[in-house]
Amino acid sequence: MFSDRLINRHNTDSIKWAKYANTDIIPMWVADMDLPAAPAILEALHKRVDHAVFGYAKAPDSVTKAAADWINQQHNWQIEPDWIVWLPGLVPALNITTRAFTKPDEQLITFTPIYPPFLEAPENFNRELIRCKLANNNNHFEIDFDKFEDAITEKTKVLLLCSPHNPVGRVWTKQELNNIINICVRKNILICSDEIHCDLVLDKNSTHIPTASLNTEAAQNIITLISPGKTFNLPGLNCGFAIIPNKQIRKQFIKAARGIVPYVNTFGYTACEAAFTHSRPWHEELIEYLRNNRDILYSAIQNGTPQLSMNLPQATYLAWIDIRELNIDNPVDFFEKAGVGLQNGRDFDGQGFVRMNFGCPENTLIEAINRIKNTLK
Ligand SMILES: Cc1ncc(COP(=O)(O)O)c(C=O)c1O
Repeated sequence: MFSDRLINRHNTDSIKWAKYANTDIIPMWVADMDLPAAPAILEALHKRVDHAVFGYAKAPDSVTKAAADWINQQHNWQIEPDWIVWLPGLVPALNITTRAFTKPDEQLITFTPIYPPFLEAPENFNRELIRCKLANNNNHFEIDFDKFEDAITEKTKVLLLCSPHNPVGRVWTKQELNNIINICVRKNILICSDEIHCDLVLDKNSTHIPTASLNTEAAQNIITLISPGKTFNLPGLNCGFAIIPNKQIRKQFIKAARGIVPYVNTFGYTACEAAFTHSRPWHEELIEYLRNNRDILYSAIQNGTPQLSMNLPQATYLAWIDIRELNIDNPVDFFEKAGVGLQNGRDFDGQGFVRMNFGCPENTLIEAINRIKNTLK
């Protein structure tokens, strides 16, 4: 299903490619893939366009059922349709959560390095964010639970958790998630578990476990965020959802979004339903394709570029590359000169690293690797 032909995204509406308009630089920064969507999604969208009327959209029961069934089948978590709150994106959900569940003098906590909107949401509402650094044990990133517990104060009300974790690609184990839950229950902290990468597990020995599926009681204090955006490469269609079992918390969440966060658009719902109901074979093939890309990149970095190193991401199509030995001030500029557009780790609170998106045709990845190797010769 996936060919090595790169679809030309120049002069389209792509944020990723517009940054490098009129250059030969390969964009490997923003997290969308240079791969076409599943045939079932394209077919459903064509059909929706042919209907020709595009009024305000409300989630049909069929899309809510499709989402609940997918989560049940993929992750063995049975959710009630009522728990689902549809959203035009998960970044808004991080901001809604901050707004609804912390007061101005209260704090949130997160594990860094982290996807930048986790750092920005508290800042947007003038809330303090405690940054708990992940331990890097020879390129294996782990939570230091003593440090996590020590960092929590009486004012800490929300944990912004990323599971699997962007950018280090960890799939948190059952033990790790239980540790997180136990600490948060003890300290009365609400968990906002962003699981947007849950269907991008590449490691054959790892399984994504929804945080809230582990403990029904603790789930009353957990907001889970899921979307077909990353997995099915639909982020421009703006469709995701929060799963909130606790009615009171759900009401508070919806109230904080009212009048600010727009409805999901009709194409988002259409694509989401087609993704969750008819795109399983595409998804299975995608995982194989991304795993192969990951292995090519990992081998090239570990064996072909002595100045660089990386961990083997268990999930996501994002590599977190250690560039500290290069001792350079402006890594983005450095790699752009080599012909590759990467993202500075500093944006993630991860100085000395760059993030590289390998969700692209294999040929494109190999070309990018060759450019990096040539520069570092
Ligand atoms: C952890 C995480 N959350 C949210 C998003 C973006 O979500 P959305 O496009 O639905 O706002 C991303 C995109 O990379 C992400 O990595």
